[in-house]
Amino acid sequence: MNRLLLVVVAVIVIIVIAGLAYYFATSQAPTKEYLVVGTSPDFPPFEYIDEEGNVVGFDIDLIRLLAQKAGYKDIKIVTMDFDSLIPALTQGKIDVIASGMTITEERKKVVDFTDPYWEADQAILVREDSGFMPKSIDDLNGKTVGVQTGTTGADYVKSYAEEHGLNINVKEYSSFVLAVQDLVNGRIDAVVVDSPVAKMFEQKYPVTIATIIKTGEQYGFAVRKGETELLQALNKALHEVKNSPEWNKLIEKYFGSAG
Ligand code: ARG
Repeated sequence: MNRLLLVVVAVIVIIVIAGLAYYFATSQAPTKEYLVVGTSPDFPPFEYIDEEGNVVGFDIDLIRLLAQKAGYKDIKIVTMDFDSLIPALTQGKIDVIASGMTITEERKKVVDFTDPYWEADQAILVREDSGFMPKSIDDLNGKTVGVQTGTTGADYVKSYAEEHGLNINVKEYSSFVLAVQDLVNGRIDAVVVDSPVAKMFEQKYPVTIATIIKTGEQYGFAVRKGETELLQALNKALHEVKNSPEWNKLIEKYFGSAG
């Protein structure tokens, strides 16, 4: 009698323990709701604000696709100045940077990048009717040049001027759109900006590309250092998208041609 009772109690205890173990194992599996994406929406066609005031662009569509493939319900977009993105990421305010960010050795010390998804050089943008046609950075000597704070273009112009003893008045802007507006209004002589974006500005404003400086940059999405699981999931998804018809659809949508 006692023995039977013992067996029954033991069985109940085992069932309860197994049940609890199962409950905790499943409830502690990561619940992926939203991937929080940081961006500086002044960089068409990668990220910009459309007529309705929405943040849209190639990077936004692409990271949404990658997030969904990685098991997230959707993305949440947080906008800020370009130079605030890396601090926001390391402080945990955002999970990923999608902002046409060039993969550099300097940045790689602080964040981890996905595989590259785009290539770019720097362009010197001038006012269409100015008659000023710089063929190199040297031709910017004595001129006022707009850049966006914290960008590779800003670094490039500043270090080039220093190394070559040029007197370039580098004016830093929080946004490329503001820099281009100042160029249009004649407040500055040129803007140095990534080549694909310069091409878009050419279509939207009375400005023209005077020359392209080959810097051979590659864009990647950035995650916090050590977030290997997220990084691997994004890379896997990126690889899938690049090898699917969605890739050319995205290019067609934002660049107008598959190339
Ligand atoms: N590719 C350049 C960099 O990484 C410029 C990126 C600017 N991006 C932006 N969304 N404003 O420094």
